[in-house]
Amino acid sequence: MDFDGSEQDPEMKTYSTVCVGREDDIKKSERMTAVVHDREVVIFYYKGEYHAMDIRCYHSGGPLHLGEIEEFDGRPCIVCPWHKYKITLATGEGLYQSINPKDPSAKPKWCSKGIKQRIHKVTVDNGNIYVTLSDEPFKCDSDFYATGVYKVIQSSS
Ligand code: FES
Repeated sequence: MDFDGSEQDPEMKTYSTVCVGREDDIKKSERMTAVVHDREVVIFYYKGEYHAMDIRCYHSGGPLHLGEIEEFDGRPCIVCPWHKYKITLATGEGLYQSINPKDPSAKPKWCSKGIKQRIHKVTVDNGNIYVTLSDEPFKCDSDFYATGVYKVIQSSS
């Protein structure tokens, strides 16, 4: 029993980095999927940068690896193929458009709902792509489909 309060919070696990494939391959396909420590992730290669995130959309579990990448307000987003939610590749924020109801003639503005999709770290070394799962302790909406009974891949342990 740990009395000093330093016992590790299970929500704050630190994961080792995992090799998921070759740089040459993802540069051709521009996306790949992987299972990293029992968590399904998608890795995108877009305009020279790599981005990894939970594969199931935070809204209802849609397959983000089948979505299109589009830019909104200059921010590259994956558009979920199920209900067209837009998620920024760099930060996992959900974007939406709003108008001022007091001024309906105004141009709709892009706004952020905050971070909804968990983003993971991608590194490249010697032509290999590595993913390190996020250990950020906040609850992210996409965790719902990536963990527990709702995740698609069931743990073998
Ligand atoms: Fe992705 Fe609904 S499941 S937008």
